[in-house]
Amino acid sequence: MRTAETTTTEPQFSVPGMLIGGEWTPTGENGLREVRAPYDGRLVARVPAGGPADVARAVESAVNALNRDDFARVDRIRVLEQTSAALNDRRDHFARAIAMESAKPLKTAKVEAARAVDTFAFAAAEARRLAGEMVPMDASASGAGKTAFTLRVPVGVVAAISPFNFPLNLVAHKIAPALAAGCPVVLKPASQTPVSALLLAELLNGLGVPAGWLNVVTGGGSTVGDALVTHDDVAYVTFTGSSEVGWAIAGKAPRKKVRLELGSNSPLIVDDPADWSRAAAKAVNAGFAHAGQSCISTQRIYVHADVAEDFIEALVRRVENLVTGDPLAGDTDVSSLISAEDTERVKEWIDEAVAAGGKMLAGGDVIDGVLRPTVIEGAPPTTRLQREEVFGPVVTVTRYESFDEALALANDTRYGLQAGVYTSDVGKALRAAKVLRFGGVLINDVPTTRADQQPYGGVKDSGNTREGPAYAIEEMTERRLVSLQP
Ligand code: SIN
Repeated sequence: MRTAETTTTEPQFSVPGMLIGGEWTPTGENGLREVRAPYDGRLVARVPAGGPADVARAVESAVNALNRDDFARVDRIRVLEQTSAALNDRRDHFARAIAMESAKPLKTAKVEAARAVDTFAFAAAEARRLAGEMVPMDASASGAGKTAFTLRVPVGVVAAISPFNFPLNLVAHKIAPALAAGCPVVLKPASQTPVSALLLAELLNGLGVPAGWLNVVTGGGSTVGDALVTHDDVAYVTFTGSSEVGWAIAGKAPRKKVRLELGSNSPLIVDDPADWSRAAAKAVNAGFAHAGQSCISTQRIYVHADVAEDFIEALVRRVENLVTGDPLAGDTDVSSLISAEDTERVKEWIDEAVAAGGKMLAGGDVIDGVLRPTVIEGAPPTTRLQREEVFGPVVTVTRYESFDEALALANDTRYGLQAGVYTSDVGKALRAAKVLRFGGVLINDVPTTRADQQPYGGVKDSGNTREGPAYAIEEMTERRLVSLQP
């Protein structure tokens, strides 16, 4: 039973403050702010409320770090490897912070903590092999007699803005490649979930990151983010979050490299004679893990009419068995959304789909502040549940007759992060890989799958980059040509 503990005064986590220039700053220019648990309102931590002056100090210290050039590659590799090992040792502690500040169920938060261990390990491995290449100058008349090669040099100061839904691993996906590439970072974690990021910064700082290479400025509202992305000395912006905010940032910083990893309304096609029962089992976690608050959450399911009855029956049965409630309880599958406003918004979208003719097969109501996992069949393509990113515990199911129809329905979106297709027909699998306009097409898998070393990112409104340490490092470095004429 949900209990509002809004009067608690002792925070669950103590954080040292913001990290700026290697020093902990206990309060921001706007004092302190409270981080409260979305599920029961308990006080998670008090964190600094930073502002533009804090951002200016952080960027200045990052520029100084870049100029000092005092974080050698061998030391960066050591720190990244040791961070991975230390995170592994403290997985449970981090999982608890994630669960409390974001309402991600503990078992899902543990997976996130384990993934962050990998993300740092992959970044360390990539830092070991980062190298330029020889250029075959003698292959043309203008290059004859010259010897040339490229150096991979850091792009400059990286501004990183991370979202609330993966408060540890999506921070890791920004910090780890930046440090691997030799770029100082100024991080602004999501205002709802800064605690995991500050605990991670504490860990990294304790492992000997020199002053200024890692800065964290916490704050509510958009003032910190705006000051950061528009700062003249920031060379590169990496943002994960909503499409609206992401593209607005790109507009505010037209001369910087702005790399966006944004939302989607990911489709899953379950084709005949696909293994519909395996697809139904996987779709449950894919649609409802962290209450659907993942950019690659399975949202639109298209199922062939021949297997639709069986698939839907299996899906609904499993969805109804999901345990909802306290994110810290070991058996909880789905907890509350990040805010009561989001619960209201998603509820409104559900009501709209039902009013437009969609059939509610499961959920749809709110119990103790938690929106129950919801399945809706036949929501018209014009409804927000079909067109927009819901970021909530809802999947739609739509029946189709032909594979081409399914491909067209899946493509009928302004987003394009990942798509999943269950089929045992190799020809259809290859056709889907060619026709679906997404950053990733996953055959016999849900679109929600991500391995941290893979290239991950979208097309269209879903973004303009690929994350994953190797790919992010590629983007965070530039090729400098060195040509030698004897
Ligand atoms: C995201 O929401 O974009 C991240 C998904 C993931 O890393 O699994």
